Amino acid sequence: MSAWRMSRSFLGTPPSVREARRFVTSFLAGWPIVESAELIVSELAANAVRHTASGRFGGQFQVLIHAQHDRVWLGVVDAGAAHGPSIFSPEDDEEGGRGLMIVGALADTYGIRGDERCRTVWALLLVNAGKNAPATPLPGSEATRA
Ligand SMILES: Nc1ncnc2c1ncn2[C@@H]1O[C@H](COP(=O)(O)OP(=O)(O)OP(=O)(O)O)[C@@H](O)[C@H]1O
Ligand SMILES: [Mg+2]
Repeated sequence: MSAWRMSRSFLGTPPSVREARRFVTSFLAGWPIVESAELIVSELAANAVRHTASGRFGGQFQVLIHAQHDRVWLGVVDAGAAHGPSIFSPEDDEEGGRGLMIVGALADTYGIRGDERCRTVWALLLVNAGKNAPATPLPGSEATRA
């Protein structure tokens, strides 16, 4: 399967979070990582709306999908905030958010780039390895591990 890229902009409003989920599930339908991708984008889009200037009147966020045969990179580009995401770990005593913890648990890697004017929070899902390996190889897939 050849590599492809897809992106779409959404209004920075709560209903757009559901639209962003649909965007991801429609393009990744049939991929073993589709449910993880949906949850990740849901959390990242919700954060863009809730914690950044994307959520202000007229604000937007963008969802990017870069797919290759064995990996999918997902990014949510927001309109920035004074402070970047705080990543809590389950061991933290503080009452932290759950969203980025979920992203960290599902993604093979994730990260943040950008600054207070525009940040991209991204996650990488490896398709047939790592945390997202199917229990048995999918028919017709290249799921055998070297
Ligand atoms: N894109 C972002 N830009 C700036 N800050 C962010 C961004 N995403 C998250 N944050 C900050 O990181 C914190 C942790 O995010 P996280 O999604 O884990 O929790 P939450 O959004 O507060 O709660 P929950 O996701 O459980 O509803 C947020 O409270 C917010 O302060
Ligand atoms: Mg959140």
